[in-house]
Amino acid sequence: MNAKFEEKLTADLDALKAAGTYKRLRHITTPMAPEVHMEEAGDVIVLSSNNYLGLADQPEVIEAGKRGLDRYGAGTASVRFICGTFDVHRTLEERIARFLGTSAALTYVSCWNANTGLFPTICDEGAAIVSDELNHASIIDGVRLASKARRERFRHSDMRDLEAKLHAVQGAFPIVVATDGVFSMEGDLAKLPDIVGLAKRYGAIVVVDDSHGTGVMGKTGRGTIEHYGLTGEIDIITGTLGKALGGAAGGFIAGGDALIDTMIQRSRPQLFSNALPTTVACSALAAIEYLDAHPELVRRLHENVAYFRDGLLRLGYHPLEGESAIVPIIVGETAAAIAMSDKLLRRGVFVTGFGYPVVPEGTARIRVQMSAKLTREEMDRALAAFKQVGIPKVT
Ligand SMILES: Cc1ncc(COP(=O)(O)O)c(C=O)c1O
Repeated sequence: MNAKFEEKLTADLDALKAAGTYKRLRHITTPMAPEVHMEEAGDVIVLSSNNYLGLADQPEVIEAGKRGLDRYGAGTASVRFICGTFDVHRTLEERIARFLGTSAALTYVSCWNANTGLFPTICDEGAAIVSDELNHASIIDGVRLASKARRERFRHSDMRDLEAKLHAVQGAFPIVVATDGVFSMEGDLAKLPDIVGLAKRYGAIVVVDDSHGTGVMGKTGRGTIEHYGLTGEIDIITGTLGKALGGAAGGFIAGGDALIDTMIQRSRPQLFSNALPTTVACSALAAIEYLDAHPELVRRLHENVAYFRDGLLRLGYHPLEGESAIVPIIVGETAAAIAMSDKLLRRGVFVTGFGYPVVPEGTARIRVQMSAKLTREEMDRALAAFKQVGIPKVT
């Protein structure tokens, strides 16, 4: 490697280390579950995974993946339109559409790919995108790729600002309002009823990325849209199969037939990147079936969220308010969040600290994520660790 370049990278990394913001990878040697074995820390309780329903190590989900491997082999060795579409892709896509109440759906290897494929495909010259400022990075990057469209950001969940921005882009077509369903770093829900109302008034379409809402929100886990009783009212839903729905990987776009056909024809990750591995398609399909047969998992997740939030409050912590399975505790500087995460890990609790640039400077946080499979005993043990570590002073 070019020595000067290597030196520059090393100096940048040293600066991260000096600032206490350097991220270290932890190595897990057992399946993702409420408790895992970690090379660096031994057996730990996981409060950092998106395994909201605990389906990542559900036997039916694992078995389906194994059967997929036996039946289809390792993968498609191709992009979808060349020769990369197996029948299970169609079955999964029909199942996702039925699950979410849309007429069609299309899978991608990740929701990152879905979001970065979506916006440039539907928003050309003359279009406008109005996006919540705290949307996930994949929406932000997707919107950036729609470089010919007019792009506006509205203040987080500020409906007056959204309306002002919609007013400003009148005349564009299409006008697209983009929002997370559950905001990944805040854990709060988008104000979808208001957003849908404003979108109707301004002739805009609504895109909801419900990656952290799917499997979590709503009585049956169909997400933030079900939570608000808005099934059938959202033009485009994107989401991941890499969180509640099996946790392997994969994402999707769900919406109308013409939208999905357009994505097949023109969306670049579909045209230039391999299909979702069939093992993952099979296990994700099994995860949706399992969730449909076990709605009590969603109820248990909601109970666990309430129990853990209550426990944190009793210890004097002040997590951000919210109804989702994400419970963030603001600690201030990035180094404080990383230090708290390290202290918790030494006490057998794995919960990641997030700092700049993932969240705005000065709002670093510990992000607790709950799972339906955590037992009361595990949650009590985790709360005892939070008690020992103590509340950091917000700097
Ligand atoms: C809101 C949101 N959208 C998209 C993604 C990306 O999902 P994937 O891992 O499937 O690329 C995430 C992952 O963290 C997310 O939180």
